[in-house]
Amino acid sequence: MVFYKLEEQRNLFDGYLKAFEIAGRKLLLVQQAGRIYLLENKCGHFGVALEKGELTENSIICSEHGIEFDLLTGKVMNNHWDDCDPVNVFKVVLQDEMIGVEL
Ligand code: FES
Repeated sequence: MVFYKLEEQRNLFDGYLKAFEIAGRKLLLVQQAGRIYLLENKCGHFGVALEKGELTENSIICSEHGIEFDLLTGKVMNNHWDDCDPVNVFKVVLQDEMIGVEL
């Protein structure tokens, strides 16, 4: 596994939402309500980037058709969307005050 740096921890704030492309993966780093999340930047429905989505306290709502994903688990929260896959989530790693991911 390799550690990839994403962002200095001090630059994060509630409402932070930024897309990264690391080792061929599209990632979305989010801070909300003091917690840091890392998701695949790809809606489980039609694969649209989630960076234009709307954050709630614990979820992100895709801008395309309004499917809501849990920031922690990536699971779909609106139960009528049975054709939608969950979004992949990644463990956030903190190393020397730098937020990153191990891939
Ligand atoms: S592409 Fe995201 S909700 Fe349809």
